[in-house]
Order: sequence, then structure tokens, then C-alpha cells
Amino acid sequence: MNKVIGTGVNRKDGFAKVTGTATYAAEHQIANLVHGYLVTAAIANGQIDSIDTSAAKTAPGVIAVFTHQNPPKIFKPANDFMTSKIYEARLPLSDNKIYYGGQIIGLVVADTFERARHAAHLVKVKYTTSKPVIDGKQASYKEAPPFFGEELKFTKGDIAAGTNAATVKIAATYTTATELHAAMEPHAIIAHWTDDNSLTIYEPSQWVAASQRTYAQLCGLPTEKVRIVTPFLGGGFGSKAFPWPHGILAAAAAREIKRPLKVVLTRQQMTANTGHRSETEQLIKLGATADGKLTVIDHEAKSCTSLVDVFPELCTGITPAMYAAANLRIQQEIATLNVGTPTFMRAPGENPGMWAMESAIDELAWALNIDPVELRLKNETTEHQRQGLPFSAKHFADCLRVGAEKFGWKDRAKQVRSLTRDGKLIGWGVAAATFPGMRGKSTVKARLLPDGTAHILTAGNDMGTGAYTIVAATAADALGLPVEKIRVEMGDSLLPDAGIAGGSQMTASLAPAVMSACAEVLKTAGVKNAQEALTKLQESGSSAFEATATSAPGGEGKKWAFQSWGAHFCEVSIDEEIGRLQVTRWVSVMNIGQVMNAKTAASQVRGGVIMGIGQALMEECHFDPNIGYPVVYDLATYHFPAHADIPRIEVTFVGEPDLNFNPAGARGVGEIGITGVSAAIANAVYHATGKRIRNLPITPDKLL
Ligand code: MOS
Repeated sequence: MNKVIGTGVNRKDGFAKVTGTATYAAEHQIANLVHGYLVTAAIANGQIDSIDTSAAKTAPGVIAVFTHQNPPKIFKPANDFMTSKIYEARLPLSDNKIYYGGQIIGLVVADTFERARHAAHLVKVKYTTSKPVIDGKQASYKEAPPFFGEELKFTKGDIAAGTNAATVKIAATYTTATELHAAMEPHAIIAHWTDDNSLTIYEPSQWVAASQRTYAQLCGLPTEKVRIVTPFLGGGFGSKAFPWPHGILAAAAAREIKRPLKVVLTRQQMTANTGHRSETEQLIKLGATADGKLTVIDHEAKSCTSLVDVFPELCTGITPAMYAAANLRIQQEIATLNVGTPTFMRAPGENPGMWAMESAIDELAWALNIDPVELRLKNETTEHQRQGLPFSAKHFADCLRVGAEKFGWKDRAKQVRSLTRDGKLIGWGVAAATFPGMRGKSTVKARLLPDGTAHILTAGNDMGTGAYTIVAATAADALGLPVEKIRVEMGDSLLPDAGIAGGSQMTASLAPAVMSACAEVLKTAGVKNAQEALTKLQESGSSAFEATATSAPGGEGKKWAFQSWGAHFCEVSIDEEIGRLQVTRWVSVMNIGQVMNAKTAASQVRGGVIMGIGQALMEECHFDPNIGYPVVYDLATYHFPAHADIPRIEVTFVGEPDLNFNPAGARGVGEIGITGVSAAIANAVYHATGKRIRNLPITPDKLL
């Protein structure tokens, strides 16, 4: 029986984090360290005609200046995702071409950070400039190519017939702004070469094992010559899984200067060079019979990528999973802009996709005069309509019903503009949440020591989500030890590969491997629990019982579709005179299979909701319309929520462990919380004001 799993165990790493002893990438103390500062393009489209580094080279403290004229040696990686992956296919300093504002065009290395920065500003560049395309509305779109081998289009049934069969139809276009990950910990790297041609890298990485393989290829080394150390990440949200150009350049430059090199990006450099979520435009057409049965779902999405790599925002990916319709079509288009390469950002695709879908369902509910909770229940699908598989352990209906009950939804005012409080308009909104259940191959080493402690070792990362704590709880239950007796080491490529902390899958990947490794330790000892093992250890005088185990998905994905579900209910208060919108109440109910840690799971949902409130109300990254340069300089010019913007967020979990998915029954909870949030808010805004806002963020000007 579980004793620790499911309870609200405090974070293993909590004390280290709040006391400042958790070591983040740039904080590692390395002797003889020097500092690099990036030189970045001041134009967004064109080429470098000349670059004069003479003043920079002779500035005080300068050790080296790298540009496209003298790039450090970088080897071309396979970049096939299996053996290696870089975020931006173009290698840094590979030629004199400029594809986006802020692109890296040089690196100045000096004995101090300040001297490197000063010298970087002495580099003189002459450009030939062409007008950049930085606005998705002015770009030209074409059909998006397959992504990870999957076509980004799918049709079931007959769209025209489904449309003809509908009594009530809606068609609407929804947009989202360019968004930034804006993690607290900036992107940073320390690259440390040692005499035996080995490289140690301290860098925030959501997957140290893939990072190790990739840097090895980039440096022309065998994998075991590279070590990646990432015990802690200060947030990644998808932007810290693979090397970016600055990291590649730092690793290669450090080799040439033969000194450990640290490069920390400014917030503005991060805006240009470490990914973002593309702006999106989505057209959704829905048709239903008068009693609210969907006859057609037609979803088209557009997103933008850079000129140096292809990354589509997969807005339509969730559509075949959400609601049943005999006739359903999805398609995606993509355009290139003179901006850096977009990438995975918390619920990539699912988040903007659910913004559009859940807004459209609300519009349809009003058009039909049916309660939006009822409309969702009426159209629930028991199978994934693209995969043709039944969902395992699906409790979407419970999420809606329990959420409605907790929120008091039945007392909802049935007309828009009919609720007021303190002179402000009040509105209620609901939206669904969803995220696929994913899982990767994961290896864990477990070790039981004579002092009564157990050590769990894995390269898997805790990106701030609580993985250390979940691993400890899982091991505690598997061994029959108190959770305090479990020591967990993670985030070092010397340890066994546990896959990616991304796609909300680290828990589902890791927990089964922890269970297997612990079971294997007891088997090795020939006992049933840790107490008996300890007695045996003491009697025999052995130093430890140790075992390594791997857990990976089997054939279950051929029988079941795995997907997590949820419902958000919210209240907004709007002062129309000044366009002020405040989110005043929030209830989220989630179905994620086994909840591994009640406290950190609820925190993940809250974090997702907060990030979603940011997306709904304020987050947008602008580029200068003339020169194409990002105009986000810091965390003040990228507006995101502060405490005063956030109400109490009530989180409840429903459903049972999804044991079809893995032996731990957990589906993961890192991303689902953000999905549907912006739609719930826009739906509440409509209820409050009668204004249907289809363009995020919902800034005050849109409410006046
Ligand atoms: Mo997440 S966007 O898969 O880190």
C-alpha cells in the first residue's frame, strides 16, 4: 500500500532553494574562469559587410573575440532528435547572413564580465539591410510540413455534409501573441575543458543525457568525454531542453581559449536567442444540431517560424481528442519571419489550441442557448478520433461536474451584463483542460546502505516541478523506508539516462523505473523490505545492496489513448470605465491518474493557471516594426502576473490511477494547468460584458 505517494510531502529541495544553497548553472565556482559576452545583430534581415574588432581586441582584459571571420571549430551534429538535437539548425557564426534581430554575430571573452561587455560594445559592424518581416499578419503561409513524422492535417467524415447537417453554426478567428518563457533563471553556461580533452558543462538542461550526446557531436568527441551537470533548473518551460547557439558557441570557444568560460545571457538576448511561443491565428468552424450535438469541427491554425529552422505550433493536435463529431478536419499552415526560432513552450500547441477551441465551444453554447458545461458533457468522446483508440481512465465529465459543484455554477446568471458587484461587472467562465499522457524510457540506480538510507540516482531532471520529492516518495513506498531516509541525486549525465523533463512526462517515465530499481534491490538482497535488507547488510558486512532498472513504454499505446483532463471555472470583475479586468475566483479540477504528491501536483496546476492568466491578460513580445529588434529588455518590459493579479486558486483531483499507462498510474501534471485558462477568462469576460474577445492578450483597451 502507498504510504507516502499521494500525500503532500514537502519538497526535498525546498530548504536548499529558499536558503540559496541550490546551485544553478552560472553559480558553479570554477577556478580560472573567464567571461564571455555576446555580440548581437542590430538589424533583423541582411548581411554583415564588415566587422571591425580591433578596438575590442585591445580593450582591457580581453582574451579573444570570435566572429564569423574566425569562428571556433564546431562540428555539424546529426540533429535527428534520436542521437542529438539543437534548437536552431543553423550553427552560430556560420556565415555573414543576418536572419533575425539580436542574432549572435560574435563573442567577446575577457577576464571579467564587465570588461567583456564593454569590449563587446566596441565591435563595429557595417550591414546591408533589407526590410524584415516580423508580423505574422504580413507573412505568407504555406502548408506546414510533418512534425516528428506526423502529418499536421487529418480529416474524418465529410466537412460539407457535417456543415449542412448543422442547425446552428459558428465560425470565428482567434489569435494569440508572441510569448516568452521568461524563466526566473536566465540562460547561462559554464564550459570547462580539461587537459584530457574532456568537457564539463554547467547549463540548465531539461534532458542532460540528450544534451551530453549533442555537445559531444558538436565538439567531435565521444559521448563519454562530455558531462552535463544540472542539479537544479530555475524554470525551463520547454526552452532548456537542447543547446541553443550561445551554448554551442561557448563550448567551442572555451576549447580554443583553453580556459573555463562562462556566458550568461541578458534578458534581451534571451528574447532573441532562446525561443518563444509563436503568435498564432486559428479559424474554428463548429456546427451542431438544435439539441447541441456537434455535426462538424473544422480547425485551421497558422503559426510562424524562423528562417533558420522549422517549428510549428501544433494548435490542432488536441482537436480530435476533445469532442466527438462525425465530421472533423484539422490543418496547419506556417510562415517564416525575421525572428529567432520559436520552440516548445508549456503545452506547445495544446495551449493556443485550447484557447481557440474552448472559446468556440462557449460561443456555440450561447448560440444554442445551452449551458456550456452541458454542451461539453453532451459532446464528450470516449475515443481519440485520430488514433482510433479508447481513452484510458478518462474522467473529463467528473472534472466538469465536480468543478461546477465547487464553483456553484448552477447559480449562474443566464444573461450577459446581468451580474454586478461594487459597481463592477462580474462574469463567470468555464473551459476544459487537456494534455496527452506521455512517457519515455527511464533508467534508475537504487542503493541501500548499512546506515539505513537509500540513494536513488538518475540523470533525470527536476526542472522545479518536484521530481526530487516524487522520486523519494516512490522509493520510500517501494522499500518501506521513511521518506527522510531517501537521498536523491539527479541532473548529472554521469548517472543513468531517464529521458526528458518535458511533455509532462518525467514523473510517468521515472516513477516506474524507481519502483523497479527498488524492487530489484530487495530481490538482490533476497528480502521483502528494507528493514530485512538492512539486517542482512549488517550481518554480512557488505557495503550496499544495489540495483539498476529500466522502465519503458510497451504495447499499451496500441490499445489505449492516454490523455489527462480538467476543467477550469473562474470569475472576473471588470471596471469598464478604465478597462480593468481582475480574475477574482478560480476552481480547477484535474484528472491526471495517480497524484504522486498532493502538494507539488496542486502547485503545478496553480503555476499553469498563473501562466495562463498572464497569457490571457498581459503577455506579448513585440518587435520593432522598422528594425525587427525585440523590444523586450527585461522582466519589466515583458509584463506577466504579480501576486496582486492572482486570486486564490482551488485545485482538486479526480479519477483513479491510470494503471494501463504505467505501474505508477501517473500521467503527469506539468502542462495541463495552463490549457484552457485564457478561454475560461475570455468566456467570463463575455458573460460580464457581452464582448467576445478573440485576440489575446485581453489588455484594457479591448475592454473600453
Ligand atoms: Mo515542456 S514545453 O515539454 O518543457
